[in-house]
Amino acid sequence: MDESLDLEFAVTYRHRIFFTERAFASTNKILAELVGKAKVIPIVDAGLVQSSPKLLAEIVAYGKARELNFTREPLVLTGGEAAKKNSAVVKAALAAIEEDKICRHSYVLALGGGAFLDAVGFAAATAHRGVRLIRMPTTTLGQGDAGVGVKNGINTFGKKNFTGAFAVPAAVVNDLALLATLDPRGLRDGLVEAVKVSLLKDANFFNDLERHAPLLARGDLSKVGDAVRRSATLHAQHIARNGDPFELGSARPLDLGHWAAHKLESMTNHRLTHGEAVAIGLALDILCARNLGFFGAVEAERVLTVLEALGFRLYASEMHLQDGAPLLAGLEEFREHLGGELTLVLPTAIGQSTQVHEMPEACVHSVTEELRVRDAQRCAVRS
Ligand SMILES: NC(=O)c1ccc[n+]([C@@H]2O[C@H](COP(=O)([O-])OP(=O)(O)OC[C@H]3O[C@@H](n4cnc5c(N)ncnc54)[C@H](O)[C@@H]3O)[C@@H](O)[C@H]2O)c1
Ligand SMILES: [Zn+2]
Repeated sequence: MDESLDLEFAVTYRHRIFFTERAFASTNKILAELVGKAKVIPIVDAGLVQSSPKLLAEIVAYGKARELNFTREPLVLTGGEAAKKNSAVVKAALAAIEEDKICRHSYVLALGGGAFLDAVGFAAATAHRGVRLIRMPTTTLGQGDAGVGVKNGINTFGKKNFTGAFAVPAAVVNDLALLATLDPRGLRDGLVEAVKVSLLKDANFFNDLERHAPLLARGDLSKVGDAVRRSATLHAQHIARNGDPFELGSARPLDLGHWAAHKLESMTNHRLTHGEAVAIGLALDILCARNLGFFGAVEAERVLTVLEALGFRLYASEMHLQDGAPLLAGLEEFREHLGGELTLVLPTAIGQSTQVHEMPEACVHSVTEELRVRDAQRCAVRS
């Protein structure tokens, strides 16, 4: 006789995000209170260390001052997208976790950019099926978006984030002071996710970004910090309150512009950063939303103008490769990543959005051409 059991259970998660400055000052209690006496293995992005040569000593000194149970001096591993291009960083982190006998009650303390946290987070999510992870994002994109999320992973088979895992970090600590060493490109990158999330969820935030765009473009750290904090809050609230933190459905309601962005990152061999690719993807989706009648022309122009004022270019020649076929393949890859019906988010007003299930190819073609012409005109004016 056939039998079946159908048991339902729920698990409660806490998603804790701390905003601070100088997390490794001996007077700063946040990290010490988070880890208590548990073992901690610090793992740090090499690119960050290069820009902040004193950081490693500060981490060690903090451990001594606060009597933390660090298992070793900070382990420095490759950062940037290179950390995700193969499994080397994941394997090195796993090997150190094993060597230091990090258990499910111990902590991995990961400091670095979004790519580094994706890779080290994947190691933490899979070691012993998941050890505790404290993320300390050190880029604007990391602090405002990637680092405050629950996703980890690396790129495989030429596809962004093909291999990965969902895991809620034990905590995220955003230390604004760590952003000070970013170059203008790095500082700018996270602002695009702030524009994206404001456009989807918070018209007042969008208005502020628009008003402060010149200061943000100049790298005013206080204004950048505000934008990052508001972006992080909206991203984290979405994860905690929108009913699908592990993306079991077919929609990714925050991924405006990302079907094209992920494809453009691969197509340009990561010449474009994630933020730069998202800026182009946003422009593409926004103009498509306008052409399809979802979004007003005036609003669309406002969004493009803000992105340009922040210093983003809204076109890459790869978009026209093979009549746009490789770019359009990004739509199917995006659908496949989640499964089910293609579901894209498009803005309907500043601060509001809707979901659609198709994106006409003709629309993408005409908008790509519009962005090419716009870019050529801007370049001509500048030269
Ligand atoms: N997991 C998620 O939910 C999620 C969300 C959005 C984006 N992402 C991923 O995040 C990645 C992009 O992250 P990113 O924009 O932070 O870039 P990144 O991690 O590639 O870092 C860019 C460069 O900055 C260096 N760096 C890091 N901190 C620094 C600092 N304070 N000063 C100077 N240099 C520093 C890094 O070494 C690297 O060379 C992409 O792979 C993207 O797919 C993940
Ligand atoms: Zn993104």
